[in-house]
Amino acid sequence: MAIDYQEKIPNNVDLSEDRRLRRALESWLPGYQQWWRELGPVDSEAMDVYLRTAISVEPGGWANYGYVRMPDYRWGIFLAPPEADRRVNFGMHKGDPAWQEVPGEYRSELRRLIVTQGDTEPASVEQQRLLGTTCPSLYDLRNLFQVNVEEGRHLWAMVYLLHGFFGRDGREEADAMLERHSGDPDKPRILHAFNEKTPDWLSFFMFTYFTDRDGKYQLASLAESGFDPLSRTCRFMLTEEAHHMFVGESGLRRVIQRSCEIMNQHKTEEVRKFGVVDLPTFQKYLNFHFSASIDLFGQELSTNAANYYTMGLKGRFQETRIDDDHRLGEARYPVPEVKGGAIIVGEAPALTAVNERLRDDYAVDCQRGVDKWNRVIRDAGIDFELKIPHRAFNRKVGIFAGIQSTPEGRIITEAEWDREHGGWLPSEEDQAYVQSLMAPVTEPGKMANWIAAPAKGIDGQAIDFEYVRFN
Ligand SMILES: [Fe+2]
Ligand SMILES: [Fe+2]
Repeated sequence: MAIDYQEKIPNNVDLSEDRRLRRALESWLPGYQQWWRELGPVDSEAMDVYLRTAISVEPGGWANYGYVRMPDYRWGIFLAPPEADRRVNFGMHKGDPAWQEVPGEYRSELRRLIVTQGDTEPASVEQQRLLGTTCPSLYDLRNLFQVNVEEGRHLWAMVYLLHGFFGRDGREEADAMLERHSGDPDKPRILHAFNEKTPDWLSFFMFTYFTDRDGKYQLASLAESGFDPLSRTCRFMLTEEAHHMFVGESGLRRVIQRSCEIMNQHKTEEVRKFGVVDLPTFQKYLNFHFSASIDLFGQELSTNAANYYTMGLKGRFQETRIDDDHRLGEARYPVPEVKGGAIIVGEAPALTAVNERLRDDYAVDCQRGVDKWNRVIRDAGIDFELKIPHRAFNRKVGIFAGIQSTPEGRIITEAEWDREHGGWLPSEEDQAYVQSLMAPVTEPGKMANWIAAPAKGIDGQAIDFEYVRFN
């Protein structure tokens, strides 16, 4: 089904047939637009950006490219096509027909899941709002804006569910999404990592690689939900999310590629004087972003997560491909524990450990990109290996929040941590150095000195294509 862009809110949910819902969303729209103007990308009002806009949700139909004046981007509501005879695939309702309405007894749990996910979407736009002023190229500027408009659309996706299925309290929650702001001391975003700053492009690429990937795993487990509208919403969001992670993975690969070129050219590891990111600094940023992102999966053992699972609201990653009973009555799962000053692997009921399992799946996925970056370093003949830190490192959530650990996972004292952590996490000096590299490059095809050109352009266009037009 093609999406009609003549409508005020483009959608494939028959909004024109549902006057009550359409009115509710149309009354939320001006507040959203005001939020975008105030907290969306700075100075972007007059830019025409070569963006992708969904024209249908069928494979191939959702990637339609063209110039869009930024504030005129049409945020719409798109759900993946329904699956005939879809069932609840796990938990105590396994085998029942999937719910098309919110089951009354799970209303508050479902609302909490939707609000928590929804809150992250505008948060990342707020975190990234200044980056456009220091873009390393037009190609990158375009990618930043693509990510931003789609995170805005993901907010719409969640607000649709709140308005469409939760009545008055859903509308109040939708309003609150625009009242909380990233880093606001009084009304911060719900999850800690979304109140951090994204002050430079190295952080942006790390964020899109590691934190958007958390989003992928959260969305994937919500896509398993027995509440069918949530499942369909998340399935379409996942198609967009893939591009965000591509931006991160390829951005970081280009940073490394450039650093290796300079190392080889000048036969030195001390490349800061040549204006690129040295690999130890890269590793520190990686340590920070990985540890902040795995906090987002929550406690290792969680009764809430167990309840969401049993209720059929939030499943495991690729639930239906897992070969077990999908009820987890008796099953056990390995879970780390801190015992006698060491980290050991214990065991817990798989049902309370679903967060930990999702974190495990996530960590495996993170390693894939790191392997690719290490190949770039190896191919350049450089002896350096990037490593994902141990999951005990720099944690603020879960059993490791109470201890300090090295990136290798050795427990250390607070005093040792205070002495050593500047070698493991970006210090103020490191951050100031990275910040000093950030200067805008806006000539088509040109790249900032600290980053290599991409392997290819967007949508088959050349690398020196004018991805953004300033007016
Ligand atoms: Fe998103
Ligand atoms: Fe994203």
